[in-house]
Amino acid sequence: MMGPGIDLPLVDAAGVPIADGSMTLIDEVRGPKRDGCSVARVRLDRTLLALKHHRLFRWKQRIPATLGRSRLANERRMLLRARSAGLPVAELIAVGQRRRWGLVVEQVLLVRWMEHHVTMTQRIRDAAEQGRRAALRKAGPALAELLAQMRRASIADRDFGPHNLLVDEKTADFAAPVWIDLEAAYEAGPDDRGDTLLTLAGTLASWWYCCREDQAELQAVFDAVCRALPEPPGGWRALLEPLNKIVLHRSRKQLRVGSIQTVPEPVRLTSNG
Ligand SMILES: Nc1ncnc2c1ncn2[C@@H]1O[C@H](COP(=O)(O)OP(=O)(O)OP(=O)(O)O)[C@@H](O)[C@H]1O
Ligand SMILES: [Mg+2]
Repeated sequence: MMGPGIDLPLVDAAGVPIADGSMTLIDEVRGPKRDGCSVARVRLDRTLLALKHHRLFRWKQRIPATLGRSRLANERRMLLRARSAGLPVAELIAVGQRRRWGLVVEQVLLVRWMEHHVTMTQRIRDAAEQGRRAALRKAGPALAELLAQMRRASIADRDFGPHNLLVDEKTADFAAPVWIDLEAAYEAGPDDRGDTLLTLAGTLASWWYCCREDQAELQAVFDAVCRALPEPPGGWRALLEPLNKIVLHRSRKQLRVGSIQTVPEPVRLTSNG
C-alpha cells in the first residue's frame, strides 16, 4: 500500500490534471492481495474517496496497460458508460498512473466514498441468519432490476452480484443499491444470450453463498430476474441447462475453498418466471 501521503499525478473524470492531487490515507479496506491490488479509504481535498490501487508486476500487465488496456482502464470506461446510461454506479472522481522506463507500473482509480453503506452480501447474510424472509424477498427484485437496467444499457459483467453492490447500512428494503465494482464489466448488447448467461450465472452463484444456501431463495431471485429481464432470444428454457451447469461449476469452486457447504439444485422455470 502507498504511504499516508499519496503522490501520483491524477486527472479527473474528463481527463483534466488535478493540480494538487495529494491524497491522505484514512484506512485500508482491503490490503494488497498477491496480485498487488488493494482498496483504501482516502481523502482528496475535503472529499472522502475509495481508492483502488493496482501494482503491475509483470510485463504481461505493464505492456497492455501502457497501450491503454488494464483492469482499471476498463473500469473507468465502464463507470462512465454506466453512469451516462443512468445506472446507479459510484461517481468516478479521478484516475492516475505512474510510469517507469516509459511503462505503466502502477494505476489508481478514485470514486466517491459511499458513507454508511455496506455490501448487499453482508445485509442479506444477516437477514438470512435471522430468518427475516420478508426482507430477503425484497433484495432479489432490487438486484434483478439493476441487472435488467445493465443489460438494457448493453453492459454485461463477469463478476456481478450482491458482493459488488452497496446498500445503505440501515435500509430494510435493499432499495437503491449502488454498483461499485465494474472491473469485469464489458459491452454486450441486450440480445447477446451468452453474456446474459455469464452475468446471471455469476450472480446466482454469489447469491447461493449470500442466502446461506437456501434453495427457495435462490429460486426466488431467479424468478425475479426472469420477470425483470426481457426474454432472451431462444427463451429462458434454452438457457436453463448451461446456466445451471455454470452455477454448479462456480459453486464447486466455492465448496473447495470452504466458503459454502453444499451446492445448489438446478433452478427451474416456474409459472411466475
Ligand atoms: N465507493 C465506495 N464506498 C464505500 N466502500 C467502498 C467503495 N468502493 C469500494 N468499497 C469497499 O471496498 C470493497 C472492495 O471494493 P471493490 O469490490 O470495488 O474492489 P475489488 O478489488 O473488486 O475487491 P474484491 O476483490 O474484494 O471484490 C467493497 O466491498 C466495499 O466494502
Ligand atoms: Mg469487488
